[in-house]
Amino acid sequence: MKSNSGNAGGVQKKKMNGYVGFSNYPNQVHRRSVKRGFNFTLMVVGESGIGKSTLINTLFDTKIFPDHEEMPPSAETVKGVDITSMSADIQENGVKLRLTVVDTPGFGDSINNEDAWQPILENIESRFDAYLAQENRVNRSKISDNRIDAVIYFIKPTGHCLRAIDIEFMKRLHTKVNLIPIIAKADTLTARELELFKAKILADINYHGIQIFKPVSDEFDDPETVADNRDILSKIPFAVIGSEKYVERADGTMVRGRRYPWGIIEVENEEHNDFIKLRQMLLRTHMEELKDTTDMVLYENYRTQKLLSMGHVQDNNVFREFNPLVQMEEERRSHEAKMQKMEAEMTAVFQQKVQEKESKLKQSEEELYARHKEMKTVLEKQRGELEEKKKRAESTARPITPMEPHSAPATKGKKKNIFSG
Ligand code: GTP
Repeated sequence: MKSNSGNAGGVQKKKMNGYVGFSNYPNQVHRRSVKRGFNFTLMVVGESGIGKSTLINTLFDTKIFPDHEEMPPSAETVKGVDITSMSADIQENGVKLRLTVVDTPGFGDSINNEDAWQPILENIESRFDAYLAQENRVNRSKISDNRIDAVIYFIKPTGHCLRAIDIEFMKRLHTKVNLIPIIAKADTLTARELELFKAKILADINYHGIQIFKPVSDEFDDPETVADNRDILSKIPFAVIGSEKYVERADGTMVRGRRYPWGIIEVENEEHNDFIKLRQMLLRTHMEELKDTTDMVLYENYRTQKLLSMGHVQDNNVFREFNPLVQMEEERRSHEAKMQKMEAEMTAVFQQKVQEKESKLKQSEEELYARHKEMKTVLEKQRGELEEKKKRAESTARPITPMEPHSAPATKGKKKNIFSG
């Protein structure tokens, strides 16, 4: 076969003469996916009574959260925050969805909520760890994926700015999970209050550099998708209401909503709240993107950090990563490097010790010399003094000469004879 030398390594565009069938590939993927079904794991975080169970049941139009009396005992209890999860298989138009909702009762309910984020972060990370452990198994044919695809964070409808607990939670978790902050019980604020509250929340989120999940359009999106994304984006953070109950409208139709003395507020009415937009993003248009972001960005970052912290070396060559011979060679090199490092450290220590000894010796030599010098000075001084004394003694002593007996003055009287008794 003749090689195309004019386009070495490049890809050419070719025109086909007829239909061969690969354009049916998306349908094959679609069929297979539908057959297999999908998984989606959603976590809800917010203080007790903020409307988490109501909203989830409203979103999926089924009783995912049982009534409080039917609630099973919590699975994991850590530091006042429980982590419970419930799964349900739901089906819509023949498409199966295994939905898992992870609840965090107890969050924000203590007097001191400083570390309320901690057990939740640990739970999210332990799910990443479990996935990583499965990926590293020899047989990876059955990996169960329990990673959290999105967290709906319920903001209390205070109308002020974000509270310390909200900021802390989002700051701690935004790199680990797709964050979807929502204003809960939006019917407790007026439209104007909501508008201001949203602006304050977005300002706080920007100020603290918190990344929240936002739909982004790219060049491959059709104009309709771009417009939809823009619409969704304009409503973030979604102000939502939840209700599992049906109320009767003035025209007699039954809708899900909440009844007030002044009228009813409808869940699925875009003029009343952003429930529709939240549901659209979460379930209709961006579920796959949420899962992709979890897998390819959030988990991938976590995995890289984890492996690096365990001493693995980043390498773009996938083959190297899985080749045992290459790994052995790397281990040998790393061992050698360690030995060299140890040797260098030992030499440095030895040299330091020698230096210390030398300087000590020098110091004692100097001390000895100084003492010697001092003693010498003292001795010199003493010698000088002695010589001085000697001189003085000599000068005061009677000179003894050979003439002395004759020149001596005559003693008066008779000289005593010492031998004469
Ligand atoms: P815990 O299970 O204790 O964590 O509470 P929760 O966050 O799941 O709250 P839940 O859904 O049980 O709702 C608590 C109360 O708030 C219930 O009486 C709901 O009817 C009410 N509620 C839920 N959503 C809304 C809402 O959007 N607006 C208003 N006004 N009330 C709501």
